[in-house]
Amino acid sequence: MIQLDKITKIYHNFGGNKKYALKEIDLFIKKGELVAIIGPSGAGKSTLLNILGGIDKPNSGHYYFDNTLIEFKANKLAHFRRNNIGFIVQNHALIEDMTVYDNIALPLKYSLKSKAQLENYVLEIASYLNIKDQLSNYPTQLSGGECQRVAIARAIINKPRLILADEPTGSLDSENKRNVMNIFKDIHKSTTTIIVTHDYEIADNCHRVIELNNGGIIENEKI
Ligand SMILES: Nc1ncnc2c1ncn2[C@@H]1O[C@H](COP(=O)(O)OP(=O)(O)OP(=O)(O)O)[C@@H](O)[C@H]1O
Ligand SMILES: [Mg+2]
Repeated sequence: MIQLDKITKIYHNFGGNKKYALKEIDLFIKKGELVAIIGPSGAGKSTLLNILGGIDKPNSGHYYFDNTLIEFKANKLAHFRRNNIGFIVQNHALIEDMTVYDNIALPLKYSLKSKAQLENYVLEIASYLNIKDQLSNYPTQLSGGECQRVAIARAIINKPRLILADEPTGSLDSENKRNVMNIFKDIHKSTTTIIVTHDYEIADNCHRVIELNNGGIIENEKI
């Protein structure tokens, strides 16, 4: 499903020094795998997710998605993202002047579903994530954990082939954390899911844990 071949991402620091956010990363992830990425702050976790999600472009290396080379050209990337990726970014990035309902339904803008089908579908996901009462509210009226669950609903509503989640459970209480983890587990059969987390309980529930440090994979362990 996913193959990375010597992916390198370089940033230039203040003063012009080169910083390797990712250094020649090789990675292979099978369809349906549920993978946790752990590692200290600055290790390159978000950078890796951004490249996998077609948000960021590597300096060198190759990325194959279902055996197709991703070319990192702007027009192709938008198409790639829309068709394949559900992204939960680190700060959840909800659209402030849209209601919770519209935020969740946004990825279905081009869908051929009827309005009633769409409504049922949004309601179903919102109930599962305990945010049904918030559907007509705006993101500023929500708690941090509620915002996080709206971002998760938005990322999974399109049934993407790859879900990328950057610390999706950071501000959730244990009950909602369990709900979210159950959703990821439920959908993993048809979807590949990669979760960046600092939470060992979440990592324990994944099929595999990859540890990043200083832009490199230092451990690639099956549990
Ligand atoms: N846009 C940028 N410009 C310059 N440096 C960057 C940029 N984005 C990331 N970096 C640097 O690349 C390194 C990896 O950053 P990244 O955001 O991937 O870390 P992370 O593992 O997600 O950390 P955290 O757990 O704090 O979210 C860091 O040293 C960071 O400062
Ligand atoms: Mg990060």
